[in-house]
Order: sequence, then C-alpha cells, then structure tokens
Amino acid sequence: MAEISEPNYRSLFDRLARYGQEHLLALWDRWTPAQRRSLAEQLAQVDLELIARLWEGRLAGPDIDRLLERAESPPGVRLDGSGLPFSPAEARQVGQQLLRQGRVGVILVAGGQGSRLGFSQPKGMFPIGPISRKTLFQIHFEKVLAVGRRYGVRMPVYLMTSPATEGPTRQFLETHQFFGLPADDVVIFCQGQMPAVDGQTGKLLLEAAGRLALSPDGHGGLIAAMSHSGALQHAQRRGLEHFFYFQVDNPLVPVCDPRFLGWHQLAQSEMTTLVIAKRHPLERVGNVIWVDGRLYVIEYSDLPDELADRRKPDGSLLLWAGSIAVHAIRVDFLARMAEQADQLPFHRARKKVPYLDSQGRLIHPDQPNAIKFERFLFDLLPYAEGAIVVEGDPKECFAPVKNASGAKEDTPESVQTQMSALYRQWLRSVGAEVAEGVMVEISPLFALDVEELREKIPAGTSIRQPTYLG
Ligand code: UTP
Repeated sequence: MAEISEPNYRSLFDRLARYGQEHLLALWDRWTPAQRRSLAEQLAQVDLELIARLWEGRLAGPDIDRLLERAESPPGVRLDGSGLPFSPAEARQVGQQLLRQGRVGVILVAGGQGSRLGFSQPKGMFPIGPISRKTLFQIHFEKVLAVGRRYGVRMPVYLMTSPATEGPTRQFLETHQFFGLPADDVVIFCQGQMPAVDGQTGKLLLEAAGRLALSPDGHGGLIAAMSHSGALQHAQRRGLEHFFYFQVDNPLVPVCDPRFLGWHQLAQSEMTTLVIAKRHPLERVGNVIWVDGRLYVIEYSDLPDELADRRKPDGSLLLWAGSIAVHAIRVDFLARMAEQADQLPFHRARKKVPYLDSQGRLIHPDQPNAIKFERFLFDLLPYAEGAIVVEGDPKECFAPVKNASGAKEDTPESVQTQMSALYRQWLRSVGAEVAEGVMVEISPLFALDVEELREKIPAGTSIRQPTYLG
C-alpha cells in the first residue's frame, strides 16, 4: 500500500504546505489506506485558496460601516396595511390568483446541523406539536397540502438537505409518504459543505482519522445547490414564477400567505421578506435596512447600539424591521443569481466543533473553538429589484425552535406555548370560549387560518381541557 500512498502523500503535502495546512498529514502513518484516500478525496473538493482568503478576511462582504452610515427604514407594508398603495384585500386577491394558477412553489431549507437544539436527528424530525407531537416536517408538509387543496393545485416542495441531514430526512419522509404530498412533488436536494477551521490559527480541523471537519455551507448554499441539482430547472419546467421560502425551525410560518404573495407581486418585487417590528432595539434578529434603494440584512452583532436605538421623529425605531427568514422570491431572479452564486459573501460563525488533536485524540470543546464559513440567503436582497418588506405579527408567524430546553428563549417549550396561545386566540376570535392556559392545537388540515376555522367551529363551543383539532 505504501507505493500507492507515497506519491499521494508528496503531492498532498506540497499542496497543503503552500497554505500552511500540512498538519493534516501528521498522523498519516497511523492511518489505513482507506483513511488516507478519504482525506485525499475530501481535499480534492476543498478550495484552499478560498479558505486562506476567508481566514485572512480578504473576501469580506460589503463594508457594513459604510452601509450603516446611510441606513434608513425599509420600504414595504406595515401591519395596519399602510406603506404601499395597495390594500390588504387587493393583495389577497392577487396572491390567491397566483396560487390558483399554480405559479407558486415552496422552498424549505433543512440542511442545518441544529447544534444548539442538541437533537440527534435532523431538526425537521423534532416533535413540536404541543398535543399531537407532530414533527416540524409534518406540520410544514400539511400546510403545503392544505394550501394546494384550497387552491386546487399541486404545489411542489423544494427541500434542501445537507450531507448531515440528507439520509435520515429522505428515509423519514419516505416512511411517512411525504405526509400526503405526491412523491414527485417533493424535490429533495443536498447543499454543499465547507471545512471548519481552528478559531485561533485558521488551520483546517479533522473530525476523525482521514476525515475533515466539514459543515453545510449555510442556507445561502441554496442558490448553487438548486441549480446544480436540477431543482431550479424542475421549477422552471413546472412553470413556477415565485418561490415561498422558509426555514424548518419555525412551525408558525404562514406558508404561501396570499396577502404576502400579493404584495410581492403588486410591488413587482424580485424578493420580498416578511419581517417583524423589533420589540426592543437590541433584539437578536437580523436588521433589514434600506441603503441607496437596496435592501440589506445586517446581523444584530454588527449593529452598533447607538444606531440600533436611533429614532424617527415619532419616537419609533428607525431600524425597526427584524428578519425572520421568510421570503417570496421570483424564480427568474433566483435563476439569474444562480449564475453568480459565487459572489455571495461568506459569514464567519464561531461554533463548537469536535476535532482530533495532534496526538489523534478526539476533543469535544466546551467553548466555541472553530470558525465555520457560511453563505446566507438574505445576501440576495441587495441584488433584487423592487425588494420590499411586509410586516407580520410575531405572535402569528415567528416561533423558531433554536435552543434546548432550559435556555432563555426559543426552546421547544416556549414554541409550544406560543403555538397554543395563537390557537386559543384563533378560537376565541371565532366565538369559542377557551379556558385560560389550556393547551390547544389546530392541525393545518383542519384550518389554515381564522377564516377557515370560523366555518368549522359551531357557535357556543367551549374548550376546557387540552384539545387537538385535526
Ligand atoms: P440556523 O442558522 O438556525 O442553524 O438555521 P441550525 O443549523 O438550524 O442550528 P444551529 O445554529 O446549529 O443551532 C436556520 C435555518 O437554515 C437552515 C436550517 O436547517 C434552518 O432551517 N440551514 C442552516 C440550512 O439549510 N443550511 C445551512 O447550512 C444552515
């Protein structure tokens, strides 16, 4: 075997040494030929020049300080319907027409590793229904099914996974027969990966003998993955004009909300993003800002406190719009951007990444030790013509499962509490009497919204114990 591996070793060593990464071969002699081959194969996929430039900060995105100097409130529709010269009723009608004509498909991104939640399966398989224990995937798929039924169309779902989530996700969805969606309407595709580097030195990490520590390349990896996998071409063949995009961790997403889609269409926006009004200046959500006629999302960690707290003459926050990662995106815009997917910047995230030390021992750090490089989908926004925001009510549209039980916020329990509170409110608004604090859950297949619920709940309904309407 030595004859086969030696030449590889030499050329690998030379290539790695050019970038100060030859430490990866320190344990070469202890590895099996298969392990050596595996590392060589992985390294063939890694752009070492790119990693070096990212580490040195030579590939930064736009100059955030310069953007922030000129940041204004974004244009779009506020919760009361003001902001655009089109009424909510008009928007709803236009959105409904898009849906009825089968011009909308769904993109669901589920490639993340969900490290904060600490769940051993892909996050979409997490049981979140407060009573039913339905998984996030089931809730999302049932919403798509219900929207399709309502408008008499088959609505394709483009589901992004990653090497970390692909296998179990496919198996889970196949076992559950895609929760009622036709199998050929569910297009599953896998995003790319990026190596993680040591946070102090920029050196690539090994997660096992002959295996680099790789992680998904961020939800912005969607653009390249959709076009390489053929998912984008599938959407074009199906005659879709718009995608409704959302993330797997939020069970409250108003999937294909017709008013949201209608405003997007009426404004002739290439990309529209659903936002919430920040409850306080330093809330930990991305900030949607408007600079020289373009929308940008600035991470909360990049927004200086003074600017976060800047007010308009009426006392409200200037930068009020918090991103919740729900977008309407024109298919032709995504196709245009797919041709320049490489231009999207990478962001750095400090994360805990287990790694082999120089003796080959697996270390599980208890503090973030590594940098991951990720592309973010919201970096498409500045490229979109006519981009606007639409404000949603956070109680109705935003409850992400991010953290494990016991954390301060965004835990499974806080999400279930919020789901149940929303459904109680829906029931009360259609005249039902619901005891305070009692858990309720409404299946998307029972009612997608208050209007539908109104048709199904008889007058005088009283709910005093945990109730699942399915
Ligand atoms: P997060 O940024 O919350 O990351 O993803 P995460 O991986 O789910 O969780 P942590 O940070 O490790 O705890 C937001 C959404 O974007 C998707 C996730 O699946 C989730 O729906 N995502 C994230 C991807 O599809 N790919 C990625 O590379 C990253």
